[in-house]
Parts: sequence; structure tokens; C-alpha cells
Amino acid sequence: MDYFKYKNGRLFCEEIDLDRMSGIKTPFYLYSWNTFKEHFLRFKESFKELDPLICFAVKTCNNLAILKGLARLGAGMDIVSGGELFLSSRAGVPADRVVYAGVGKTAEEIELSIDSGIGFFNVESEPEFIRIEKIARGKNKIMNALLRVNPDEYDKNTHDKTTTGKKGGKFGVDLEHVPAFFEAHGKSDYLKLTGIHIHIGSPIYSAEPYTRAITKMIDLIGKLGEKGFTIKYLDIGGGYAADYEDGASPSWDEYSESIAPLLQPIADNGIKIIMEPGRTISANAGILVTSVQYVKKVDQDRNIIITDTGMHHLIRPALYNANHFIWPANPGEAFSVTERRFDPDFDGLMEYDIAGPICESSDYLAKGRKLPPVAPADRLAVFTAGAYGMVMSSQYNAQPRPAEYMVDEDKVTLIRERENYGDLISKQCDRVITLG
Ligand code: LLP
Repeated sequence: MDYFKYKNGRLFCEEIDLDRMSGIKTPFYLYSWNTFKEHFLRFKESFKELDPLICFAVKTCNNLAILKGLARLGAGMDIVSGGELFLSSRAGVPADRVVYAGVGKTAEEIELSIDSGIGFFNVESEPEFIRIEKIARGKNKIMNALLRVNPDEYDKNTHDKTTTGKKGGKFGVDLEHVPAFFEAHGKSDYLKLTGIHIHIGSPIYSAEPYTRAITKMIDLIGKLGEKGFTIKYLDIGGGYAADYEDGASPSWDEYSESIAPLLQPIADNGIKIIMEPGRTISANAGILVTSVQYVKKVDQDRNIIITDTGMHHLIRPALYNANHFIWPANPGEAFSVTERRFDPDFDGLMEYDIAGPICESSDYLAKGRKLPPVAPADRLAVFTAGAYGMVMSSQYNAQPRPAEYMVDEDKVTLIRERENYGDLISKQCDRVITLG
């Protein structure tokens, strides 16, 4: 569900008719605060019996206005860098609700995290454990560590580039090496190895891969217990899907119906469950609004729309062949869609490829899409762009990044200014460096 809807042939975000934003220069990201809020609260409701710590994956969408709002609703944060630690602390998230994953934590990032008193390090390798342990010991601070385990479970429908649960990858420790890891490090006084973390990929389109991976983890927790290692936390990661087309992902209740009963017995035994949802909260809460620059006729039935946005602002189609529903912001009554389908059923549609201005042949937002007839200056909405959209944007081809706006009912707030040409050079300099 989300609060982007067509009414009488015009797109609304909550109570705002996008026509009223026609004076605002495109491209821009537009978020619906009440979609974020409802997603978070409904996700929480679906898993309420487990009483999990829900840590929003900051990497999906990191504007402070959004993080602050989620923090006010009680969200913790799943972070993967010193930068995300900074953002989450600026957003007012209590540090003990922060889990820090990521395979390349630097000594500086580890120090910052210890100084701010984060709740958990999700440790990805043995050398990383040793480094964090040493720094914690040096500071005389006791920290919690969850060992990221590679359960060798994944969803075969997940794109190869976003599958993380496979054996032998860069993430986590393979299952068969976990007992030895606990034997070697499970008794540290400074980095308490008190939990297990998994994150098997993104998105995971059904509950089954989770249940297979969780079953292995429960078995592992039992075996570790027999060896005297008590597990207090199980973090089952993120990956819950989002609706790139209507109804494409399971509901939160559907995930929960399979996952929660598996976890309930261990939760009842005192193991705290942690979850790291990202796109399921943020993806459908944002769109990217772009203007058509040109419509280029290639042959009798092929037209290419060239827009003022592309892979530099939303890289998912170019990088993963990801599909985003795209539709004019003001298509008129005859094309007022009620359902988002990549193959919409209307009379009078035309087939288009939708391309960006970047000098790369992969710079398409979509190919072979049926749309109402489109003309230069029309605005298009690229849906389900709230996750891995703005955060993955770049200045490639010296294109400034777009602005971000947020709607809360009938109020529109600018939450990130559009970059300008000055921003393209603001960090460039001409300074001779004296080497030691
Ligand atoms: N936890 C960990 C440890 C993760 O690595 C990720 C995502 C998440 C949670 C959140 O996953 P989510 O719930 O959002 O699916 N750029 C790609 C996705 C990369 C995912 C990276 N890790 C895309 O646009 O599809």
C-alpha cells in the first residue's frame, strides 16, 4: 500500500495534486511521510508477538527528515558505515538501537561506534572480530557482537548482484566454521559474542528462504548452547520485498505467519529478535518525478522517450535490469490507472523505451513499456523509487543530484535542496601536498 494514487486522471501524493508542483523543477524525488509511517507501524504490528527490535536499513533511504520520523516511531537503525552512524545519531536514534554490519569497517569507524555506544556490531569475519576486540579492549569498553553467519540459503529469484546468503561470499562466516569461531572468540571479555546475524539477500520474494535459514540458525543456537555459548540475540536481517508491481510481494502478515511461529519458542526463551527491513518500508514511499525532453521516433512502432533523469539518479534499471512502474503524472481521465502493472490494459497505449540523458547505452529507465501517448514537457512518475534511489545517485556526466520533497497530508516540505553546478566543484581544489 502507499499514498500515491490517480484521481480523475491526475496523480496525488496524499492530499497533494502533483499538478500543484508543476512550478518545481524536475527531476525530484517525492516521498509520502504517511506511507513510511504506516509501513513501519504495520510491519511492527505483523511481528508484534515477537517484540523484535526493528532496525530500519539506512542504506535504502537516508534523508534525516525520514530517519527522524522513523526514530520518533521507535525504530532502531541498521547501519553499514561511519556515515550512516553519523546520520542515525543526527536523527536522534538511541545508540543502543543501532546494529552495525558491513564487511569493511575501518578502525576509525569502529572507534566512533564504540565511543557512541552502539548496541551491536554485526561481525563479518575473523580479522574484523580481532580488530574490534582490540579497539574495545584499548578503550576498556564492553561491546556486543553478533556473528554474521552465511546459512547458504537464498532466493533463486533474487538478482545475483543482491544475493548475499551464499557460501563462500564476502559476507559473514560460513556455517561450518561457526563452532570454531565461537571456540576461538566466544569468551572475549570486551567483545561479547552474544548473537547471530543473517541477511540472505534483497529482495526475498517469499517466506520460505527465511524459514530455511532460520531453521538452520535455531539448530546452530542449540549446538552452541551445548558447548556453553549462550545466544541472547538473533538478527534475521532484511530483504522483505516491495511492490514494484501491485501485489508482487507477500504482505507483512504473510511473512510473519511463516517466520514468527518458528522464532516464538526461542523468543519465549529470552532470545531478542532483531529485524532489518529496508525497502519494504521505503520503496513504495517514494517516486522520482521527471520531465520528458524529447520523443524520438525510431521506426513505425518504436519510440524512445528521453527524460531529464536516468541512471545517475536511479541506477536500479541499468544495474540490475530492475523494473519500476512508470506513468505520466497527468495522463487524463482515460488513463487513470488504479493498478500498477508493467503491461497495463488500456486502449490507445503506445510502446516506448524510456531513456536518460547519460552517455551510456545502459541508461534506460525501462524498455518496451506501454504508456499513454507522451509529448515533450509531460511529467512522468517513476514509482517504487524510495529505496536505493537517491542514495545510489551520482553526479555522473556532471549532472547535479535532484532535490527531495516530502508530503505529509496537505503539506509539502523541501527536505534536500537540488544540487547546483557549484556543487560539482565544491570539493575540488588546487593544493600541493607535502609527503612525509
Ligand atoms: N540488512 C543488511 C545487512 C543488508 O545488507 C541489507 C541490504 C538490508 C538489511 C536491507 O535489505 P532490504 O530490506 O532493503 O531488502 N541496491 C540493491 C539492494 C542492495 C541490498 C543491500 N543490502 C537494490 O537496489 O535492489
